[in-house]
Amino acid sequence: MEVYSEKQQIRKAIKVFKTKKLFIGLVPTMGALHEGHLALVKRALENNDKVVVSIFVNPTQFDNSDDLKKYPRTLVKDVALLETLSKDRILVYAPTVEDVYEGKTVSETFDFDGLEFEMEGRFRDGHFDGVGTIVKRLFEIVKPHHAYFGEKDFQQLQIIKKLVEKHDIPVTVVGCPIHRETTGLAMSSRNTRLKPEFMEAAPFIYKTLTAAKKQFGTKSANKVSEWVGNQFSKHDLLKLEYFIIADTKTLKPVKRKSSKKQYRAFIAVYADDIRLIDNIALN
Ligand code: PAJ
Repeated sequence: MEVYSEKQQIRKAIKVFKTKKLFIGLVPTMGALHEGHLALVKRALENNDKVVVSIFVNPTQFDNSDDLKKYPRTLVKDVALLETLSKDRILVYAPTVEDVYEGKTVSETFDFDGLEFEMEGRFRDGHFDGVGTIVKRLFEIVKPHHAYFGEKDFQQLQIIKKLVEKHDIPVTVVGCPIHRETTGLAMSSRNTRLKPEFMEAAPFIYKTLTAAKKQFGTKSANKVSEWVGNQFSKHDLLKLEYFIIADTKTLKPVKRKSSKKQYRAFIAVYADDIRLIDNIALN
């Protein structure tokens, strides 16, 4: 499998594919790959001739330097995992910070029509400017026909769709369902950092989400949120940062339920110093 660390090299490879009229898929990741990432790559392999998997821990989207420092970096293992899917149709782009940012590790500023001010945007300063900056750059370098993002980061997925629409980027953004452990815990690179007792406790997040979904059938969003808050206040290990029921399109918290709208519940929880997010479709 080809592993490129410089954008010039990958641009050259892509140019050859384009002259052969091959379809190119892009799966942006920060590495420490798990089954959730691999599901995106499998989906991309179904719909494209070549798939570029980018592996880059993007510094500009971290508002917490400790989280950035401790983010797992496992390139050799990641490449081995990808090779189990395909050796010749997958290319890895694993650049250095210098290759991507050329000495200026700063974000562009984006207007995502307000999507960026909700949930993760409220709790992670500058996060979506960082995500927008790196994803726009990856789109420019790889020029994919299709790009794959997980619903695990549902707000990010909506923001990327907005980025593409607003900047007229010729790529189709494909959203893929959340992959979970058998316990229900959403797979995440950060799970590998959970101490055993927190790993054991963490499935409580999804359990609470599914219970909230049931309640949303008959109760108001406020009542459900109150119940979720109570559940976590009684929990010894997990600390709730937010639980919000929001309109799937605008990501604004629901005020009055309407049968015409789609809703999702979003949650962020601290397990020790590790921040976990998850979400669930409610209707
Ligand atoms: P990362 O957290 O590595 O995730 C890469 C992609 O995998 C994202 O689209 C994410 O939603 C998806 N993903 C992660 N866990 C998943 C799961 N359990 N089920 C389904 N999909 C899952 O998200 C990022 O990296 C970065 O913000 C990035 C887009 C690469 C920009 O730096």
